[in-house]
Amino acid sequence: MSIEIIFLANALSDLALRCGHLVGNLGPAEAREYLSQRPEEESLLRAQICSVGAYLPKKRMGNQEFIKFLDTSDEWITSNTGIKYRYVAGEEQAASDLGLEAAKKSLEKAGLSPRDIDLILVATATPDYRGFPSTACIIQDKIGATHAAAFDLSAACTGFVYALETARSYIISGSARKVLVIGTEVNSRILDYNDRNTCVLFGDGAGAVVVSGERDGGSEIIDSILRSDGSKAHVLTIPGGSRTQVHPELGSNGQYLTMEGRPVYKFAVRVISEIVTGLLERNGLVLEDLEFIVPHQANIRIIQAAAKRLGVSVEKFFTNIQDVANTSAASIPLALHDMVEKGKLQTGDLIVTVGFGGGLTYGGNLIRW
Ligand SMILES: CC(C)(COP(=O)(O)OP(=O)(O)OC[C@H]1O[C@@H](n2cnc3c(N)ncnc32)[C@H](O)[C@@H]1OP(=O)(O)O)[C@@H](O)C(=O)NCCC(=O)NCCS
Repeated sequence: MSIEIIFLANALSDLALRCGHLVGNLGPAEAREYLSQRPEEESLLRAQICSVGAYLPKKRMGNQEFIKFLDTSDEWITSNTGIKYRYVAGEEQAASDLGLEAAKKSLEKAGLSPRDIDLILVATATPDYRGFPSTACIIQDKIGATHAAAFDLSAACTGFVYALETARSYIISGSARKVLVIGTEVNSRILDYNDRNTCVLFGDGAGAVVVSGERDGGSEIIDSILRSDGSKAHVLTIPGGSRTQVHPELGSNGQYLTMEGRPVYKFAVRVISEIVTGLLERNGLVLEDLEFIVPHQANIRIIQAAAKRLGVSVEKFFTNIQDVANTSAASIPLALHDMVEKGKLQTGDLIVTVGFGGGLTYGGNLIRW
């Protein structure tokens, strides 16, 4: 072996070590080009949300439709949850199809090509497949993000909050520069439409953001708090994994969501105020500094009770639950998208997102818009 070849081999293995998984996808020439584009002082990078995209399926379902087959009423659903409508995916649509549409829109708004993306993170509780392939890999292929690593993140309705912090961590560590973060759900596939306690609460949809490592500009995911309490895992489940014995007679019941509403409700009210207060305190801020709190859209009564507990007007909370219901991991990016579309977010505004759900998981992100 000539000196040049040994040198090249060493240089490439050094590259691979320094760039980890990212270089694994690239040829030597592309890897060199990629490394040459990386900033010298990566720790100075800020994780900036540069665009938001969203997708809702065509079919919109009002509360009245449940009355045809369920012992319920528009009055009960509206007064107990705040929900009026939800969207339902077509039979041919899976989580990747919804996520793909939201991702395309967020890339377009950011003025980026799929080839610019280093990492695709998909937060979902209703992936296309149980286990693998990941929904992220399916989107990676469909969108043509040929340089991207891709994986799913399972933290139920807190998934998007977890994914934003994961994106931020990849960026500030220098492992990725452009991250596509997607929250996508086809909840209608895991709902028992004979169970009035659960089926009226959830909807389908997807939201996506591009998070970019930038040195300049004020916008930034400043801080996050992520927490979990597995001791209450049983109060919200989607069975059908390796805990479940496969019996033919189990049928589709084996994949329906189960929930104990009351403990989830109490947990949610408590953790919303805990997360918001925690993020404010450790960043030297007070509630008045926040333009909006963007909560997971699970139940308007949860949001009202959390507002009371925090001692703020419910107006401080952005809500769109009336139009889309609980879309699990898609809930917060769909809310952010609505806020942008309605002109509610101005450059420099401070907001806190706060999520809670199965796991149990909870957490929030402090963001300067
Ligand atoms: C689900 C939730 C709205 C139920 O409200 P609640 O005040 O706790 O009501 P309960 O479960 O005690 O049920 C009260 C009654 O309403 C009934 N009820 C439940 N769903 C109903 C519906 N869709 N229509 C009519 N009645 C309904 C119950 O059957 C019960 O009737 P009963 O008294 O005859 O037994 C509430 O517990 C909740 O929002 N929990 C959090 C759920 C959540 O957000 N999960 C996702 C987190 S990510």
